[in-house]
Amino acid sequence: MPNNTDTQKKLYIKTWGCQMNVYDSSRMADILRPLGYAQVDEPDGADMMILNTCHIREKATDKVFSEIGRLKKHKDEKEAKGGKMLMAVAGCVAQAEGDFILKRAPAIDMVFGPQTYHELPEMVLKANGNERVVNTEFPSVTKFDTLPEEQNQGAAAFLSIQEGCDKFCTFCVVPYTRGAEYSRPVDKIVDEAKRLVDNGAKEITLLGQNVNAYHGESKDGKVRGLGQLIEEISGINGLQQIRYTTSHPRDVDQELINAHRDVEKLAPFLHLPVQSGSDKILKVMNRKHTADRYREIIAELRAARSDLVFSSDFIVGFPGETDQDHEDTMQLIRDVGFASAYSFKYSARPGTPAANMTNLVREDVKSARLLELQNLVTEQYLEFNQASVGKTMSVLFERKGRYEGQLQGRTPFYQAINVPANDRLLGEFVDVEITEATANALVGEVKIIENIAKSA
Ligand code: SAH
Ligand code: SF4
Ligand code: F3S
Repeated sequence: MPNNTDTQKKLYIKTWGCQMNVYDSSRMADILRPLGYAQVDEPDGADMMILNTCHIREKATDKVFSEIGRLKKHKDEKEAKGGKMLMAVAGCVAQAEGDFILKRAPAIDMVFGPQTYHELPEMVLKANGNERVVNTEFPSVTKFDTLPEEQNQGAAAFLSIQEGCDKFCTFCVVPYTRGAEYSRPVDKIVDEAKRLVDNGAKEITLLGQNVNAYHGESKDGKVRGLGQLIEEISGINGLQQIRYTTSHPRDVDQELINAHRDVEKLAPFLHLPVQSGSDKILKVMNRKHTADRYREIIAELRAARSDLVFSSDFIVGFPGETDQDHEDTMQLIRDVGFASAYSFKYSARPGTPAANMTNLVREDVKSARLLELQNLVTEQYLEFNQASVGKTMSVLFERKGRYEGQLQGRTPFYQAINVPANDRLLGEFVDVEITEATANALVGEVKIIENIAKSA
């Protein structure tokens, strides 16, 4: 986190939700920096507090209000001493709830959605003039055209290439909170990638709600897909690893499969959410593919790159899901084999088509299915992690570990790993021999290379 001196104003940002929100929070800090705000880790004494929220699952709005209640005491304390603290709600709950937040939470000065934060300087000006601000527009000038250059993100950097979603899965709020699909132009992305690498990035994760729906215009006027974009970015000297997230099975095309075959820098790990293994449920979810089509895509990708491993998202207890439908999901998991997975109980989201469905699954049935599914995937990660023991992998050390003298990083397969290592290896790719494995993480040792310099 940046240094903070007394002359600077303190900015505290709390982030929930997906990588897009994490990215947006860092961009908000970039926009506010020229206004004199420096980010801090604690809310106490802050001059501005931003809650960057997520609306994806149950009780999102309630959680935000209780968080406002908790954090408000810092504002009250500051104001009791004659100071001022601006308090803002940003992100997907802000987009969904708009001025309802201002009505219910008098402490809040600003409410703004994910597509408007480039207008923060004007919003701050208004809020400082004691005007309460709500901004949930989808402006025609995209924020990407006006954002300042990103700050140094370190060795593992994120780059947003695509936003929004036009898929309208019947359970999901994202098309409503983030708006329509939008792809940034190729040259803007390549320039940003180069700057990130110049500033020390060794790995870049390309981000989008539907990252493989990417179709950005290139300088020659032609439209490029994600596969070609990855090819282009892989040419940047000094960039060692590329990842992308989150992708949709429907948008896995031949070019993307070819990129997994041809681009060595593309990590052998792919998060490809499937949600369910039942064709009936996939249909009512509006996922627009079958379970067998998913199996086929996995087979095609594995044929292109044999060491590729997969992770996925699952929803259990979608309306109408029977024991057989759940069993179909379990069978898909057994067939594919996942290196990690996120699984959730279905929760109805206001305003989505599934919220009107009536054949609901009982809460206790959902819990039992979730547990069964999680037990199976945990067995699979443990097996995968244990099979890694004894192997040597190139690990990017991203941060200090929990214990002194330890660094934390990820293997190419996105396994979390802790390694006793000197701090000077932070931000480097280092060969590590895997020595131990649990379902959640690996332990390893830095591989010592016997490098006997030859004298001339
Ligand atoms: N764009 C991605 C997913 C984004 S949301 C995709 O198409 O797969 C992240 C995950 O949250 C989803 O994959 C889904 O598993 C879960 N999710 C979304 N809405 C949900 C809901 N209403 N109830 C439970 N889980 C949900
Ligand atoms: Fe939501 Fe479906 Fe879009 Fe993913 S593809 S963001 S799950 S609507
Ligand atoms: Fe949540 Fe919005 Fe991301 S709802 S998952 S923060 S797109």
